[in-house]
Formats: sequence, C-alpha cells, structure tokens
Amino acid sequence: MEAEGPSVRLTILGSAAGGGFPQWNCNYRLSRAAREGRPGVRPRLQSSLAASAGEGRGWVLFNASPDIRQQIAQTRELQPGPDAPLRSTPIRAVVLTNADVDHLAGLLSLRERQPFHLYATARVLAVLEGNPIFRVLDPAYVTRIPIALDAPFALDGPDGPTGLVAELFAVPGKVALFLETGEAGADFEAHGEDTIGVRITSEGGARSVFYVPGCARVDPALLGRIEGGDVLLFDGTVFTDSEMAQAGVGEKTGRRMGHLPISGADGSLAALAGAKIGRRVFVHINNTNPILDEASPERAIVEAAGWEVGFDGMEIAP
Ligand code: MLT
Ligand code: MN
Repeated sequence: MEAEGPSVRLTILGSAAGGGFPQWNCNYRLSRAAREGRPGVRPRLQSSLAASAGEGRGWVLFNASPDIRQQIAQTRELQPGPDAPLRSTPIRAVVLTNADVDHLAGLLSLRERQPFHLYATARVLAVLEGNPIFRVLDPAYVTRIPIALDAPFALDGPDGPTGLVAELFAVPGKVALFLETGEAGADFEAHGEDTIGVRITSEGGARSVFYVPGCARVDPALLGRIEGGDVLLFDGTVFTDSEMAQAGVGEKTGRRMGHLPISGADGSLAALAGAKIGRRVFVHINNTNPILDEASPERAIVEAAGWEVGFDGMEIAP
C-alpha cells in the first residue's frame, strides 16, 4: 500500500518547441549536429507529454504535436495492447494548453473514428471550431469539453475515469501565432485562456505535477501556484531572449513569441530559484537553445541551478 495513494506517471513524448529538433529547414549548427548524429546532441520531437494514473488506467496526452504518429510508434504504452479490440487505443483524453500548431496539429492524426475526450479552455476550443479541418474529429466520437480555469476536474475518458485530476490556470502568454493581429493589446494577454498551465494530480494522490510549456514571464500568481509541487515541467524555449537573432535565423525575441528566456535577471532560472519544487525540468526547447548540446556551458549552468533538460522518452514518476 502506498501511503500517498496512486501517483502520476509521466512520459515526455516531445521535448522540442515548434519545428522540432532538427527543424526540417534549419541549418543552424545545433540542427546540423543533431542531423549528423553528434553524441550529446539528441534529436527531439515536438512538444507533448503523456500522463497515467497507473497500469491499466490508460493515458492522457497533454498537447497533440504534429509528430504524434511517431511519438505513439516509439512509445509502447500508447499502442493498442495485444488483446485489445481490433481498433483501440490506451489514449483516453487529450488536454490542450494553447492553440499553437505544435500543440494541436496532432489532433488531425487522431481522426480514425476513435473515441476520446478533448479538454481545453473555451477560447482554445473556439479556435478549433473556427477551423473546419478539425471537423475530421467526428463529434460522435470525440467529445470537446470546455474547462473553466482554476477549478480541478476529473480527466475522464469516454468510458469512465482515468484516475487523473487536472486544473487549468492562466499564465502570461499570447494568442496562437497564426491568430496574431499585429496589435499588442489583442495579441498579448487578450484572453486569460489563450495560454494555460496545468496542475496534474491523481484521485486520492498527494503528488502534483505542473506542466507549463509556454510562459511569457514568472509572476507572483504563478510562483504561488507552483510552490510545493513535486515536479515542474517548464518553458525552456530559449536560453537568451535574443538568441534567434544572434543565431541569424530570425528577428523575433523569445518574449515576442510569448516565451521567457532561461537566463537573465528575470529569466526562469532567476525567477524560479527560490521556489520550493521537487524536480524542475525544461521542455518545449527551441532548436536555437544551446542547452540542447550536453557539452555546452549553458547546459552546465542550468544543471548547476538544479534543472534537468527534458528529452523524448524521459519517464518521471513523482
Ligand atoms: C510557439 O511556441 O511560440 C509556437 O509553437 C510557435 C509556432 O507556432 O511555430
Ligand atoms: Mn510552441
């Protein structure tokens, strides 16, 4: 008997940001190194996490990445079991944390008349409603469930509870890239529901996991929220704000993309240094981020600060 009740098992399915690593059209030194198979520079698929309350309870995906087919192909637990029905999946629900392409395009690959529940804020579900291609997810099979912020809810699958409980909360962020209007007021923090973090627990379990793959800055509300968590999986998109320009691959800063940098006075290392958290793991890592190279000084800096760098297939059982 576990004194603390059932726990939450996590598998990182994709630890890269949008584009993946290497990105298809990127010739920057890091993508080159990953493409060439250089030791210490692991390729990574796009941003997604799987969670389960234990053996036989099925899995919930947090974000559906464009690489979902490959992620399922390389994760045995997400495949139909040998004695399962002819068409079946252990994936019972999907939760979206925003409407960016790297987090929802994988839904299109889940279109084979397979029942699952789809949870997101009303705002993110409205983006799906507004894009007719998502009608390939037949509502007779895929139930879209709008979730209000700041209230825990049971993550049910079509045939009952998964044993997991989630709570969605707003984090500083912006609308999806393809919905930007060019007006800061409309694009940034126009809706508290555009970018969210998730607290994941299990029914009756004492462990809590925070999953925040996109975050523009650490504010007091976020600090208060994650305090005491067992695991924090956090936005590791860029190491420095101007990294993409310095690499010569684009003009946008991390902040302009809605992602705070790791380094700097108000970067994640400094802002979260005093937080009481069991394990802290960077995810959603962009292909320009030097921490992708295990031999880099930046990698040494984040590890010395107590952070782990997430990788595909990383399993965490808090
Ligand atoms: C982001 O996290 O900023 C987005 O995934 C960017 C994109 O859609 O490519
Ligand atoms: Mn992204």
